[in-house]
Amino acid sequence: VLGAAGGIGQPLSMILKNNLPAGSKLSLYDVAPFTPGVATDLSHIPTDVEVSGFTGDDLPKALECCDVVVIPAGVARKPGMTRDDLFNINASIIANLVRNCARVCPKACICIITNPVNSTVPLAAEVLKSEGVYDKHRLFGVSALDVLRSETFLAAELGISNQRILVPVIGGHSGTTIIPLLSKVIGYEQISEDRIKALTERIQNAGTEVVEAKAGAGSATLSMATAGARFALKVVKGLMGEPGVNEYSYVEGGSKVSSFFAQSVVFGVNGWERVLDYGKVSAYEQSLIDGAASQLATNINKGVEFAKKWLSENK
Ligand code: NAI
Repeated sequence: VLGAAGGIGQPLSMILKNNLPAGSKLSLYDVAPFTPGVATDLSHIPTDVEVSGFTGDDLPKALECCDVVVIPAGVARKPGMTRDDLFNINASIIANLVRNCARVCPKACICIITNPVNSTVPLAAEVLKSEGVYDKHRLFGVSALDVLRSETFLAAELGISNQRILVPVIGGHSGTTIIPLLSKVIGYEQISEDRIKALTERIQNAGTEVVEAKAGAGSATLSMATAGARFALKVVKGLMGEPGVNEYSYVEGGSKVSSFFAQSVVFGVNGWERVLDYGKVSAYEQSLIDGAASQLATNINKGVEFAKKWLSENK
């Protein structure tokens, strides 16, 4: 976990310590000097997962032999900021961390949480390409929090258990690029058109809901840690050969809408194996997909252009 001492990183690492398969090794890295202390703290939890913590120049040591790298390193939003406002700071952080992954653990599955995901993932792809190790099946943007939020809001709307709800969320991970396919939910017919629109907009703005409620103290951390851990544990299951494990993720997956697109991916022993078609959507959802295409293209281009500049300045 890179960024392991942060608001997301700490609870994410805790969930992983408690849920990774016995015999796994959990490696924490953060520029915060107390990161080895976070590892010591976690190491007292009695599970068969060995934890180590690194900081400063020890990033390569932290990455040695890693199969999965989860990255929540960077800065988070304050009220009034969009995810895009984070770009300039977080882009350099991602470029440097991903270059280190390419050099130390080139076969690792890299799961990027750091915002703006719509741009940081294409940026990471360019850095991996420059190192000659890019494999689109091993690079993921973590958009799973949008799925968790949709499940929660829809379950409340329908008055049923969260455990029984599955909501596909496609597109990207910011604003109107977040496209929940509520027409796929059992019970959809009972919800009025106005409510569908209101729920869709709430899902799209749910991150801002948390940013405003925390009033300057950051963005979603605990729900994101839950989503990030659920995602990473599924990647691990795939690598271990468990069949039929899938989740929504922002990947370079051959979508007709956009080169990088959040969609359901099936995990396997080499990362994501294939993308599942989202099938027929409602007219409203189609209008959202059509509307997101140009925004996604702009976000992707921003990541690619940044990578070009960063790579020319950081040989
Ligand atoms: P935070 O500020 O609490 O933690 C970030 C951590 O990253 C800090 O511990 C910091 O020391 C560390 N860090 C900074 N530069 C680093 C570097 N070069 N190498 C290693 N570690 C470094 O922020 P928080 O709340 O944990 O959020 C982290 C990121 O996750 C933000 O970019 C935020 O926007 C994003 N996020 C993404 C979501 C998603 O759905 N994908 C949801 C919520 C947040």
